[in-house]
Amino acid sequence: MIDKNQVRQVFDQYVSAYHVDDPKIRLKIDHTYRVAELCQRIATPAGADDLDLAWLCGMLHDIGRFEQVKRYNTFVDAQSVDHAQFGADLLFQEGLIDRFSLSLPSEDLRVLEQAIRCHSAYRLPEGLSDRERIYCSILRDADKVDIFRVNCDTPPEQIYNVTTEALKTSAVSEAVKECFYNRTAVLRSLKVTAIDYLVAHLCLTFELVYPVSREIAREQGYVDRLLAFSSDNPDTQAWFAYMRSHIW
Ligand SMILES: [Fe+2]
Repeated sequence: MIDKNQVRQVFDQYVSAYHVDDPKIRLKIDHTYRVAELCQRIATPAGADDLDLAWLCGMLHDIGRFEQVKRYNTFVDAQSVDHAQFGADLLFQEGLIDRFSLSLPSEDLRVLEQAIRCHSAYRLPEGLSDRERIYCSILRDADKVDIFRVNCDTPPEQIYNVTTEALKTSAVSEAVKECFYNRTAVLRSLKVTAIDYLVAHLCLTFELVYPVSREIAREQGYVDRLLAFSSDNPDTQAWFAYMRSHIW
């Protein structure tokens, strides 16, 4: 049994020690609550046996973000720490999990830890149990689905740290197009131009594991809004038209 109100309360109390009025912190808090709801929604069609455990994975998945930005003043993992591993370390090695007073079987705690650790990895590690794999996949899907919303609600210049001019005029790299053709995520090292970042985010739709996650992403409409991007570069404009007719 997971006391969801208790979890919400402890979470709110934990984040209140950070700058909750800072829009970037607020964004992570809202993202957390949305991902938790999405996890719960995806759980049943994904074949999970415990909706509350799926919800909990969502509630705690980005707990490392707050300490990351406090210590390193950035959300960029490459310039600081892997926020997923960092969050799992805070919870399970430094005892943060105890604050939530959960009385979960050790097997559930392992699932929770694994899901948090792997949520932003490019690929899941080998050797996960079937149950771990399911909860990991639910969380990864839920996180991606909400990333589409975040990317619509935040100016792309801010997310990708590029100028409007670069975004409007740049061309899509061949290697990034190749990922779209292969219907796969784009490795960080392949992103070169400003617009590559947006295309890479769109490629996340290919990584959604469960059909229900694709349905939710489609129904929310954020992917279509990102696809409506209008470029001043004719090649990029044509590429977006191609993506619009092939993404789903
Ligand atoms: Fe995350």
